[in-house]
Amino acid sequence: MKQRLEQLQQDVLAALLKADDEKSLQDVKVGFLGKKGTLTELMKGMRDLSADERPMIGSLVNTLKDQFESSFIERQSILRQQAIDAKLANEKIDVTLPGRRSTSGSKHPVTLVTEEIVDIFSRLGFMVEEGPEIEQDFYNFEALNIPKDHPARDMQDTFYITDDLVLRTHTSPVQIRTMMRHKPPVRVIAPGTVYRRDSDLTHSPMFHQIEGFLVDEKVTFGDLKGILTHFLNEFFGEGLAVRFRPSFFPFTEPSAEVDIACVICGGEGCRVCSKTGWLEILGCGMIDPAVFNSVDYDTEAYSGFAFGMGLERIAMLKYGVNDLRLFFENDLRFLKQF
Ligand code: DAH
Repeated sequence: MKQRLEQLQQDVLAALLKADDEKSLQDVKVGFLGKKGTLTELMKGMRDLSADERPMIGSLVNTLKDQFESSFIERQSILRQQAIDAKLANEKIDVTLPGRRSTSGSKHPVTLVTEEIVDIFSRLGFMVEEGPEIEQDFYNFEALNIPKDHPARDMQDTFYITDDLVLRTHTSPVQIRTMMRHKPPVRVIAPGTVYRRDSDLTHSPMFHQIEGFLVDEKVTFGDLKGILTHFLNEFFGEGLAVRFRPSFFPFTEPSAEVDIACVICGGEGCRVCSKTGWLEILGCGMIDPAVFNSVDYDTEAYSGFAFGMGLERIAMLKYGVNDLRLFFENDLRFLKQF
C-alpha cells in the first residue's frame, strides 16, 4: 500500500506539471480525488489493513493530499498567469497610433450672417427678440396696417393654417409683440424663419429674415440713414456706396428701399446686378403712426424707424453663392466651405 501511494504521488504530481490549461488541470484533480479517482480507489484498500498499519497509511494519505493541494494551486496560478500574459500579448494596443478623428460640424452660412448682423446691432445697443413662426393674423397683418382686403396682402403669398392663423410671412410681427410688452425707448433686432408660397430659382417657401426697429423721442429719418449706412459699411466693407430709394410699405411712412453698390462688379454693371451697378438689400422706413396706435404708443411723443432684410440674399452676396437652393440641400461639400 505504501509503495502504491508513493507511485501514485509521483504519477499525480507529474500529471499536474503536464497539465497545460485549467481544464486539463481540473481533469487531473477529478482523476485523483473524484468518486472514481485513483486515490479514492486506493483508499478502499484501507479496510484490509491491520490496526497498526492504518494510522501510518492514513497520515501518508493526508500528506499526499496536502501536497497535491498545494501543487495544484501553484500550477493553477502559473497557468492563470500564462493565460493573462498570452491575452495581453495578443490584444496589445499601440498607444502611439494616431486616433481616428471625429469630424466637427460647421455653422450654416445663413447662421454666420445672422450672427454677424446681430453682433453689429448689439454693439449699437439693440436687443435680440424672437416671435412664433405660427402667427396670428393680427400680428402678421392687421396691427402692421395691412387690413383684410388690403392689396398689400397679395404681395404676401401666405400659408394659412386657419382663417386666423398663418405661417408668418415676415419677421415684422415681432415689432408688434415687442412694442406691446415694452414701452419706449426700444431698440430691437429680430432674426427668424419666415414662409411664403413661393418656390423657384430665387425663392424658397421657407427662408430667413432679420427685422430691426428703434423707437424713442425725436427719432428722424437721418437716424435711420445713419444707422443703416453704418451697418452696411461694417458688414460689406468700409467705403461702400449706399443709396436710399423711395418705396412703399404699409407699416412705414415714408418708406425706402436701400441699395448698395454691386459687391460683384463694384458698380460697373454685371449679370448679378442686371447691369445696374446696384443691389437692392433691404426695406425700411419711419414706423407708421397706425402701427403705434395698434400697440398703444403715443404718436405725439415718440417716433421710430424699422427695417427688414432677407438673410439668404445677404449670404449669397457676402459669400458669392449663385444658387439659393444650395442653402437648403444640406450638401456637406457646400456646407464645409464656411
Ligand atoms: N416685412 C417686409 C417684407 O417682408 C420687409 C420690411 C420692409 C420690414 C420695411 C420692415 C420695413 O421693417 O420697414 O418684405
